[in-house]
Amino acid sequence: MLSLGNSYDRDEVAEFVGRIEKTIGQVTFATELKYDGVAISLTYVEGRLVRALTRGDGEQGEEITNNVRTIRSVPLVLRGARVPDELEVRGEIVLPHARFQALNDARIEADEEPYMNPRNTAAGSLKLQDPKLVAQRGLEMHVYGVIGPDLGTSHFGAIERAGELGFRVPSVSQRRIERCNDLAGIMDFISYWEQARHDLDLDIDGIVIKVDDLNIQEELGYTAKSPRWAIAYKYQAEQAETTLVDVTFQVGRTGAVTPVAELRPVLLSGTTVKRATLFNADQLARLDLHYGDRVVVEKAGEIIPQVVSVKVDERGPDALPVRFPEKCPECGTPLIQEDGGIQHMCPNDRSCPPQILRRIEHFIGRKAMDIEGLGGETIAALYEAGMIRNVADLYDLQREQLLALGKGWGERKADGILTGLIKSREVPFERVLFALGIRHVGETVARKVARAAGSMDRLRSMGREELLAMDEVGEVIAESILEFFGRDEVEVLLHRLREAGLCMEVEATDGSLSKKLEGKLFVVSGVFENFSRDAIKRTIEAHGGKVSGSISSKTSFVLAGTDMGPAKRTKAEQLGVRILDENGFLEMIA
Ligand code: IVH
Repeated sequence: MLSLGNSYDRDEVAEFVGRIEKTIGQVTFATELKYDGVAISLTYVEGRLVRALTRGDGEQGEEITNNVRTIRSVPLVLRGARVPDELEVRGEIVLPHARFQALNDARIEADEEPYMNPRNTAAGSLKLQDPKLVAQRGLEMHVYGVIGPDLGTSHFGAIERAGELGFRVPSVSQRRIERCNDLAGIMDFISYWEQARHDLDLDIDGIVIKVDDLNIQEELGYTAKSPRWAIAYKYQAEQAETTLVDVTFQVGRTGAVTPVAELRPVLLSGTTVKRATLFNADQLARLDLHYGDRVVVEKAGEIIPQVVSVKVDERGPDALPVRFPEKCPECGTPLIQEDGGIQHMCPNDRSCPPQILRRIEHFIGRKAMDIEGLGGETIAALYEAGMIRNVADLYDLQREQLLALGKGWGERKADGILTGLIKSREVPFERVLFALGIRHVGETVARKVARAAGSMDRLRSMGREELLAMDEVGEVIAESILEFFGRDEVEVLLHRLREAGLCMEVEATDGSLSKKLEGKLFVVSGVFENFSRDAIKRTIEAHGGKVSGSISSKTSFVLAGTDMGPAKRTKAEQLGVRILDENGFLEMIA
């Protein structure tokens, strides 16, 4: 697989067009998005997918056929009557933002390090050993080239033909591919996507301009590295330069220590960035950061700000290197290393304050016990006052004790907390299990495990093999569950939570309220008056509906609260998806 000539300024694009017009005369160009993912080549023989190769090291591709078979936009069998004997389809595998975000949300919830960006995550996903896991990632294939017989003489036409054969191809109406007859048309395409790329659900790093006529492409041929008939115009990644003020080391719920760059505030694509993740010791070593360094920050996949490089030339002679601490910055316990030295952990889970606080915060969180009246600050205050050391202590809180805390602790607040705690007894077992914060047991795993085991007692008694037999449970999760239930303090904790009245088994009813929303797919956006975001999602599901993160042609309704983003609205309107407000929704389920 070759690469494309890159240009960062429009004059170079004009030169490219000029060069071609000089040798060939007037030609038509096809303009496309330059997807930022993993290049892939698919071979079909007699209409069946037989091989999927990535670029590998550039010389020798890497075969990943079984993993690619799980990608929904890759047809396993070509459609239609006139299927060619042999066909090669080229394109890019990407991970859409919504899937990347969901994956990282789950990782953060399980106190795992978030992935860096969608491109690396897509590449990593394609290397997974288990195709089932690949299928869950939600990768997409975007076609940009077709090689085979009977494709006509136009690149644009060949892409359309790929669409007929069953591929998801770039949409003309959304301007994802266009035919341009002159430089002005190309420039207009560049300008359009310069802005519009921010609303896309995937990363592009530029656009590609190709001579449309396949015969002329052949006539122009290739240089040693790239085709003479195409050029990429790359958008500048949104970067900003600032100063590294400090590096803090944050201790998560499970003791994982993450370095965070504290920066002099700087504006980056519309938001002020003050902090950026440094991921782990590996990344810290790669950057060779020194205190006071001038650093370049970038929005990775336009989502998480990260430090991408250091201006070594601007470093003062006395600058001190940033080192990973050997002891926990919070409790002083020597750190241990996992994952071959990449991940540092504080093993003091019993008395390291941030671990305790994060565990309690996780427990009260909306996706867990959803305890109204309690939040991060209240938890910190109760901890400071020595009233809570674990989640079971919450259920021993007394009204007088809360009122005695003094300023800011009125009757309303105290009663709010106590009512919230009482209401949390209604929370179903699967969320109680999630709330315990077992490492690697995120929301989905907790739901599956709770339903499969049926009760806390049953789960506690399960051995390795039994755990492994459950959906979603692999080695890592099984080990983690066994380790959790093996701890002495967990036994006491669970006993106390049971005494407090929390739900320790799957209820006889399945929690469903009606089938009014059966077959309907909702996308929820904005803020609601009567529901939290999670509550409205649960309500949809309780009435038989489904919820998805991103709008597509399959979406039945976009449920819009106040502050719904304009991009979502436009997308819904473009796809003709009905937008429903909160009152409309209430009427629907009434
Ligand atoms: S055409 C000879 N079209 O960019 C290569 N490539 O720098 C012809 N890419 O590895 C490639 N979007 O994976 C082409 N619309 C597009 C593309 C595209 C992304 C990637 C491709 C290639 C790299 C070239």
